[in-house]
Amino acid sequence: MTAEHRQPALISAAGVRMPRLIYGTAWKAEHTAALVEAALRTGFRGIDSAAQPKHYDEAGVGAGLAEVALPRDSLYLQTKFTPPDGQDKTRLPYALDAPLATQIEQSLQSSLRHLGSDYIDGLILHSPLASRAATLDAWRAMQQWVTRGVVRQLGISNCYALAEFDALYRAADIKPAVLQNRFYARTRHDRELRAYCRAHDVIYQSFWTLTANPEALASATLRNLALRHRCAPAQILYRYLTHIDVVPLIGTTSVAHMREDLSIFEFALDARECDALSLLF
Ligand SMILES: NC(=O)c1ccc[n+]([C@@H]2O[C@H](COP(=O)([O-])OP(=O)(O)OC[C@H]3O[C@@H](n4cnc5c(N)ncnc54)[C@H](OP(=O)(O)O)[C@@H]3O)[C@@H](O)[C@H]2O)c1
Repeated sequence: MTAEHRQPALISAAGVRMPRLIYGTAWKAEHTAALVEAALRTGFRGIDSAAQPKHYDEAGVGAGLAEVALPRDSLYLQTKFTPPDGQDKTRLPYALDAPLATQIEQSLQSSLRHLGSDYIDGLILHSPLASRAATLDAWRAMQQWVTRGVVRQLGISNCYALAEFDALYRAADIKPAVLQNRFYARTRHDRELRAYCRAHDVIYQSFWTLTANPEALASATLRNLALRHRCAPAQILYRYLTHIDVVPLIGTTSVAHMREDLSIFEFALDARECDALSLLF
């Protein structure tokens, strides 16, 4: 069985096939192309990027994709529009003084060019804007690209207030298919938001899944399950998240960790084990 076959997928509310583990490309700098190539050769088929040169080298992501040259429809490519507040103003993928809709268009064109694709599977609004009205303006501009067939589905990131996410969900003509958030104890791991996502068929993607959860990874529950399944606590956490339909973004720079992470589909956690983990997350 190839790694690809070992990695099952989810189908989003928009009908888009999304692998259950996605390789995250932030902070890879000059190693981005080689790491994306390694992730694809190891079996990852989902890639998370952003038109945010401060943290992502999207041209490097494209170079890694080109090196492996997999059929485009075997990949899930996700990128982000990052509003000006999240950008290094000296390295912008759009004109700072352009209207929001133009910024979104320029950002998207930059992503398409860098990724070497004529469409994007998931376009994520990197964070809500200063007001709900501004967030909705951005969303409406993003929706147009779905209507034009350039983007297959939309999502939002760093949206931690249920009321804010609900307001966007209700107002949107094209509903968010993805919520991408930091998964950590301070927000109670977004329990309420994750329940909302389940009820509304929104896929929850987690980031900083390992780096923000050192206590949980060191807990007796995770360590004992790791011993029982002869794997690392990180693999138990990732496997648990896949059981509850959370899609972790995996930021490793190690091929050994890539292999370990993709191998989680070789074992399953039973209902009792998942119940024990649900007390931690
Ligand atoms: N929307 C947003 O605002 C936002 C913010 C942050 C991140 N993200 C996305 O989320 C992705 C992942 O974020 P992240 O890199 O901070 O989080 P992460 O995947 O939780 O952390 C990766 C760190 O964990 C270590 N690690 C240890 N064992 C590992 C294993 N088995 N598998 C994977 N990593 C292991 C890695 O070290 P080694 O390199 O030695 O394996 C690395 O230092 C980013 O690349 C980006 O795409 C989005």
